[in-house]
Amino acid sequence: MIRHILRDDDLTAAEQAAVLDLAAQLKADRYGQRPLAGPRSVAVIFEKPSLRTRVSFEAGIVELGGHPIIIDAQSTHFGRGETVADAARVLSRFVRAVVIRTGADERLAELAAGATVPVVNGLTDGFHPCQLLADLLTVRERLGSTQGRTLAFLGDTGNNMANSYLLGGATAGMHVRLAGPAGFDPDPAVVARAAQIAATTGGSIEVGHDPVRAVAGADVVATDCWTSMGQESDGLDRITPFRPYQVNADLLAGAKPHVVVLHCLPAHRGEEITSDVLDASAAWDEAENRLHAQKALLTWLLS
Ligand code: CP
Ligand code: NVA
Repeated sequence: MIRHILRDDDLTAAEQAAVLDLAAQLKADRYGQRPLAGPRSVAVIFEKPSLRTRVSFEAGIVELGGHPIIIDAQSTHFGRGETVADAARVLSRFVRAVVIRTGADERLAELAAGATVPVVNGLTDGFHPCQLLADLLTVRERLGSTQGRTLAFLGDTGNNMANSYLLGGATAGMHVRLAGPAGFDPDPAVVARAAQIAATTGGSIEVGHDPVRAVAGADVVATDCWTSMGQESDGLDRITPFRPYQVNADLLAGAKPHVVVLHCLPAHRGEEITSDVLDASAAWDEAENRLHAQKALLTWLLS
């Protein structure tokens, strides 16, 4: 059966743990293992900008002994009528897996429906599961384990990172707290799904509007940009209502002394996070861990 990773809940808790274990192993032996040698080709398609996802997949697939084929959507027929399902059907004849960064989750689902090889979400409007694996790997490295740890996400609680923290954090047994301005709330269906997962892993879910309460005693504090790709001209004020949710030294004083600060990057210094906090944060390890986590995910999917 083909496995697709379209959302964070496409991995069970045991599978997520196995991928993270493998990521740590591959990181410790970075150039020693080539499980995709053969070679196996992987297509990585971008319909939105990227630095980290693009380079970490390309470098990671090379390190695994595979061959990455990076495709910018503008250079394909997507804009002139070829459906993503048809494209996926064709790509499946050429490559062993397809990674795609796109907008609507429906478009990702359509692509997966046409594919006969595994499809991986490289970020959609709804979710960013590869980023979550890197984040969880970083938490494991810093704190030993994710189980029972409290993660507070501040900012746009309706965006892809918030959704992925809900599902991926719950899967990892974490207590996930979200705080952001009213009107930027997460999809109730995603919150309900996360609560359902948390009930089986010993985690919990709390969604609200109070940043101080969310950060109180937190082991991990995460944030993301206030304006995601594609929202630049949605007509909403994405600065003023978000200001109380800035991750800064004052707010972090309420967290645990060992607090791990995460940011998926790119960051907007002085908006969602101050420069001093970002520079001292775990975001740089987190960015590197994209490579290790994705190498593990591809190895797990293809072996
Ligand atoms: N964090 C992340 O996905 O970065 P890019 O948009 O640069 O890929
Ligand atoms: N929420 C951000 C994440 C970028 C990695 C966006 O979608 O633009």
